[in-house]
Amino acid sequence: MRHLINILDLSVAEIESLIEVAENIIDCPDVYGNKCKNKILATLFFEPSTRTRLSFESAMLSLGGQVIGFSGSDMSSISKGESLKDTIKIIAGYADVIAMRHFVEGSAYIAKQDDDVPIINAGDGAHFHPTQTLTDLLTIHREKGTFENLTIGICGDLKYGRTVHSLICAMSRYSGTKFVLVSPPNLNLPDFIQKQYIDAQHIEVKYASSVEEALPYVDIMYMTRIQRERFENVAECENLEENYKLTADKMKLAKDDMCVLHPLPRVDEISVDVDDDKRALYFRQAHDGKYIRMALIMAMLGMIEGFDMQGDEEIEKDVIYGKKCTNLKCVSNVETNIKHTAQLSEDGRYRCIYCDTEINKV
Ligand code: NCD
Repeated sequence: MRHLINILDLSVAEIESLIEVAENIIDCPDVYGNKCKNKILATLFFEPSTRTRLSFESAMLSLGGQVIGFSGSDMSSISKGESLKDTIKIIAGYADVIAMRHFVEGSAYIAKQDDDVPIINAGDGAHFHPTQTLTDLLTIHREKGTFENLTIGICGDLKYGRTVHSLICAMSRYSGTKFVLVSPPNLNLPDFIQKQYIDAQHIEVKYASSVEEALPYVDIMYMTRIQRERFENVAECENLEENYKLTADKMKLAKDDMCVLHPLPRVDEISVDVDDDKRALYFRQAHDGKYIRMALIMAMLGMIEGFDMQGDEEIEKDVIYGKKCTNLKCVSNVETNIKHTAQLSEDGRYRCIYCDTEINKV
């Protein structure tokens, strides 16, 4: 049984296979029209979504499968006090694959624990969003033909932007990756990304104080909105400074073959006068999301060659139990009956297995 909780659950070769299939779907969509006949996808969206949910649903329908699900936690028995584990256990009996978005960090990890049905993380709080990264990678691949030696500017909310976290994880595996980070000082990368995927991997990073400063150097400019819904005090994020906004005028500073990406929705961080620029790829990127999700659904159902259906064995090594996670938004502090567990991570620190927060061993 395979699950996709973190983008690193997929090997580089598996990501390549997904991209190859997605590109083939774009070229010959009719070949795929019956691939998932009699299969059911459940979309469990406890948090708002337009693109991710609808592209998953459109993907399954275009594969000839069917879709069940809900959008909003008041639409499910969670509002009656049911645990997430119980909800998943039940839905696993109704569907062949589940795509779940939840506002709690680490929730997807809990969902996969019963191993009855493949679980796809469609966003867990401010933690990860691996299928957006697959979308980003498909658009990058279609445009650049490679993932190597790319300098990627990332601008906006690096702290709460889960798409940013998963993109950094994915790109940290390719040689020659460089990042140029541009964010307001209170929205820098969280510790679990900075230490595990940048510092421990020795990735070259530059920090810029404005999008103008970054633009001349980057091959890709990945813009993001401020994740207002994640702030405890909304006043902290009232106005985004001009430094973090992209306009047609500033685009004159960028290379001719630079690409502007954005997971969308956009608020005011990209002005509409950028939309007509041939380097503005964010609308096409949103459409690419459907094709890569078609490939992913097929992969999760064992239909793509070269995809290892055994998955990674969970190794119970260097694990400590019972140390409470300090992140109050972690699933281990929100749901009941979850075993607090930390594991030694690549940066030499013990981290919560659900949300990656560093856990003090003593
Ligand atoms: C992103 C998300 O939900 O994290 N949207 C998406 O899935 N395309 C980005 C965002 O909401 O800003």
